[in-house]
Amino acid sequence: MRISIIGATGDMGYGLALRLARLGHDICIGSRQLEKAQEAAQKAREEAGCDNITGLDNVAACQDRDLIIISVPAAGHRPTLQALKDVIGDTPVLDVTIPMAFNPLRYDPPAEGSNALEVVAVLGENAKVAAGFHTVSASMLCNLSKTVAGDLLVVGNDDDTVEKVLALGTEIGLRGFHAGGLNHASTLEALTPMIIGMNKRYKRGHIGIGLTGI
Ligand SMILES: NC(=O)c1ccc[n+]([C@@H]2O[C@H](COP(=O)([O-])OP(=O)(O)OC[C@H]3O[C@@H](n4cnc5c(N)ncnc54)[C@H](OP(=O)(O)O)[C@@H]3O)[C@@H](O)[C@H]2O)c1
Repeated sequence: MRISIIGATGDMGYGLALRLARLGHDICIGSRQLEKAQEAAQKAREEAGCDNITGLDNVAACQDRDLIIISVPAAGHRPTLQALKDVIGDTPVLDVTIPMAFNPLRYDPPAEGSNALEVVAVLGENAKVAAGFHTVSASMLCNLSKTVAGDLLVVGNDDDTVEKVLALGTEIGLRGFHAGGLNHASTLEALTPMIIGMNKRYKRGHIGIGLTGI
């Protein structure tokens, strides 16, 4: 699959880039700065041991793709979508972002109720949007010596997009589940501040979630 990851110069997107590239997907790292994207892509090619990772500025990265992953901090979420709206068009989008800020830690969802619904508000009602990976730690994804494990809940307004994302999650090593419509995205996004607190309490780096009875 041809996948671009906007913000993959940061840990979350970079970890996804490494994992998906090793599976053979054509990965493009998007950045606001071309040079930064190219440097991250070079580093990722060396780390992942494969040459199917390129780096482009965010606008160029959104062209001619099967999936665009949005992986930027909350403060940059709406402006990034506004800047890329035209070039994203009807390309399926996976949003992994969480409406959270650090120092001090704040959970601050947008007026739409979740970052995932903010994607639809900006891109338009016809946008194909999935949201997931909120409970999958970037440090686990980035550490290629670690096996990825845990359950992946994905919500969305388009079943094909959700299934596409679940298939990627399964390839990476997660057990994926369709968790319903985008109205549930706020529930998923709100899990992360709790998990960060648990990581501190239990002195762990990548607590995830697991379902039973399924
Ligand atoms: N870390 C985790 O374990 C984890 C897990 C699940 C979900 N998430 C979510 O995934 C998203 C990315 O996490 P991260 O830790 O990789 O974030 P990050 O390192 O803070 O940011 C990722 C990239 O976003 C771009 N960026 C930064 N500020 C921006 C702004 N104001 N406007 C537009 N772009 C901006 C930067 O790329 P350029 O400068 O190259 O453009 C940066 O390298 C966040 O929403 C986070 O909550 C994180």
